Amino acid sequence: MIFKHRSEIDTLPAYKQGKPAPVAPGVRSFKLSSNENPYQPLESVKAVISSRLDRINRYPDMRGWDVVKRLAKEVDVAPENIQLGCGSTEVITQLVNFLAGSGDEVIYPWRSFEAYPIIVTGAGATSVQVPLTKEGTHDIDAMIAAVTDRTRLIIVNNPNNPTSTSVTDAQARKLLNSVPSDVIVLFDEAYFQFNTDTDTSVAMDLYREYPNVVVAHTFSKAYGLAGLRIGYAMGPEAVIEGMNKVALPFGVTDIAQAAAIASLDAYDELDMRVQNIVAERGRVVDALRKQGWVIDEPQANFFWLALGEKTEEAAEFFVSSGLSVRVFPSEGIRISVGESEANDVVIRVCQDLVDRGFLPADGE
Ligand SMILES: Cc1ncc(COP(=O)(O)O)c(C=O)c1O
Repeated sequence: MIFKHRSEIDTLPAYKQGKPAPVAPGVRSFKLSSNENPYQPLESVKAVISSRLDRINRYPDMRGWDVVKRLAKEVDVAPENIQLGCGSTEVITQLVNFLAGSGDEVIYPWRSFEAYPIIVTGAGATSVQVPLTKEGTHDIDAMIAAVTDRTRLIIVNNPNNPTSTSVTDAQARKLLNSVPSDVIVLFDEAYFQFNTDTDTSVAMDLYREYPNVVVAHTFSKAYGLAGLRIGYAMGPEAVIEGMNKVALPFGVTDIAQAAAIASLDAYDELDMRVQNIVAERGRVVDALRKQGWVIDEPQANFFWLALGEKTEEAAEFFVSSGLSVRVFPSEGIRISVGESEANDVVIRVCQDLVDRGFLPADGE
C-alpha cells in the first residue's frame, strides 16, 4: 500500500553508510569507508563519559551551554554565536530548515557530502548542484553564476568530501564578494584540522570579515567522537537564534557534551594524532604516486581514486584484501587514512591494481 506522502522524497537516494570492515578469510580487516579517526578513544575522555552515566535518567542541557561557552572562548566569539547539533549533520539541517523551504534554492558543489541533497529535499527546498571541475575542486564561477533571487544558501565544503580538495582563500573571497550579503554562505569544514594547503580559505577568518558567513565544525573527525554525535556552528546571532528554534530538542546528549569538553582539554594529544594521520596520508599518497597514480594532494583524512568505469571492479580487490572503502559507482573510490597496517594494505592493493592495468589512462 502506498500512503499519502511527499513525492519528492521518492527521488532521493537514501544515505549510504560506509560499509563495516569486510570479513575476509585469513586476513585482518579494516574499515576505511567513513572517514573516521582510527585511534581508540582517549582514556581521559572515557573516564569523563563513565562519570556521567548516573545522569542518563535526566535530559541534557538543551542548549549545551557548558560546551558553547567553552567553544566561545576557544574561537573568540560570543556564546550567542554558537549552536550545537547532533553532529554537524544536524547543525547543517537546522540551518537549511531555518533558511529554505518550498520554492527556495540551496546551491552546493556536486559531488560532495551526500547528506546535502537529503537535507535540502527534506526541508522542501530545491537543490542546485554545481558540478565539480575535472580536478574535483569547487567550480566557484559556476556557483556564482547559479545564484538567483530564490537562492537562500550556498554551501562550500572545504576540504570537499569525497575528493579531498581544498577551496582557496581567493576563491572563497570571490564567492563572498559576488553573493548578496543577505544570502548565507555556509563553510562546512568537517575536516579542516587535516588541511595543510597553505592557500586554503579559513572560514573563521572569513566569518570575522563578512556578515553572512556560517561555519560548521564537528567533533566527529579530528576529535574522534563520531559515535557520540556532536557538532557545532558559528554564525550571526540572528541565524543562530533561528537554527535553535528548529533544532532537534535535546539532540545533543549530556555524555556527548561532556566528552566534547574533555576532548578540548586534551587538544594537544588529539592534535598529535591529527599530525600522525596527515603524515600517514603523505606516506600513502607518495607510495601511490611512485606506482603511477596521479593524485592531487589530499587535504582531509581521506583520498580519492578517480577510477571512472573501473570503479566497481577495482573495489572488489579492496574488499577481498579485508578493506571496506567508499565506492561511488562509475566515479571513484574514497579511502580513509586508517591504521598504519591498514594503509600498508591500501598500498599493496593499489600496486596490484596497477599490475592489473587499472591505472586510468591520461584524460580519462
Ligand atoms: C563534509 C562533511 N560534513 C559534515 C559531516 C558530518 O559529520 P558529523 O555529523 O558526524 O559531524 C561529514 C561526515 O562525514 C562530512 O563528510
